[in-house]
Amino acid sequence: MKTIFKFRCAAAVIVTVSLVSAAQGCRSKPRGSAASPASRSQPAAFGQGDTAESRAAFLAAYKVLMHPRCMNCHPAGDVPLQGEDSHLHLQNVKRGPDGKGLYALKCSNCHQLKNLPGENMPPGHPEWHLPPADMPMVFEGRSPAQLARQLKDPKQNGGKTLEEIIRHVSEDSLVLTGWNPGDGRTKPPLTHGEFAQKMREWADKGAAIPE
Ligand code: HEC
Ligand code: HEC
Repeated sequence: MKTIFKFRCAAAVIVTVSLVSAAQGCRSKPRGSAASPASRSQPAAFGQGDTAESRAAFLAAYKVLMHPRCMNCHPAGDVPLQGEDSHLHLQNVKRGPDGKGLYALKCSNCHQLKNLPGENMPPGHPEWHLPPADMPMVFEGRSPAQLARQLKDPKQNGGKTLEEIIRHVSEDSLVLTGWNPGDGRTKPPLTHGEFAQKMREWADKGAAIPE
């Protein structure tokens, strides 16, 4: 017997990225040396080793953050994304103010407590939803520098300290769904343990911005 769900990806709508982050670009430039652009390629005078390692750790973690298993719930618009190609969610699903769906089209109508078996079936989790409309935590389209700044900024990260961000990526059960994605879906390029360790290393070595 066939299940009641019959969801096929009709057309892969590639999401065009709309960048809304222009305002974030120029906040922190702590060591303002003389304004000559030519001096920008000079290496930093001190803290270089740790800063380089911190940046490298973030760049490794970034590959996970931007993987479809994570980015599909951290879209630039008000529609979740689906699939390996991160196309817009079918069935006209929208974020809604609380991230749980608009009007009668709630995430939990289709996303059950656990993954449903079979390809193209909805992944499950008791709290499956997007970040809320007033704090959308967008990953899609963010460069490494933009995303690193955003994750450090309590005004954009849900009021979290850096330590709370590290704990979130280490323990949160929605994050963990990335490694239990349901039949037919790829997992992020690092194990969860490796990813959490890279985020920890990024923070411990100064949470550098990889420009
Ligand atoms: C009408 C049913 C339905 C509703 C309502 C629904 N979804 Fe889905 N969703 C699905 C199905 C089916 C899939 C799997 C599609 C596939 O793999 O082809 C899916 C997949 C997804 C994925 C992709 C997961 C991945 O790892 O790639 C995300 C993200 C997602 N939904 C988020 C949401 C959110 C957030 C809501 C509420 C705002 C929601 N969905 C509401 C049916 C639904
Ligand atoms: C089902 C949707 C969903 C999936 C899948 C998901 N997230 Fe999230 N994510 C959320 C929601 C909702 C929040 C806000 C929750 C909160 O503040 O406690 C959030 C918050 C976050 C935050 C905190 C703050 C910020 O500024 O973004 C990080 C970091 C994060 N997620 C990383 C990840 C990573 C890494 C993955 C993949 C391994 C992932 N998420 C997968 C829904 C999701």
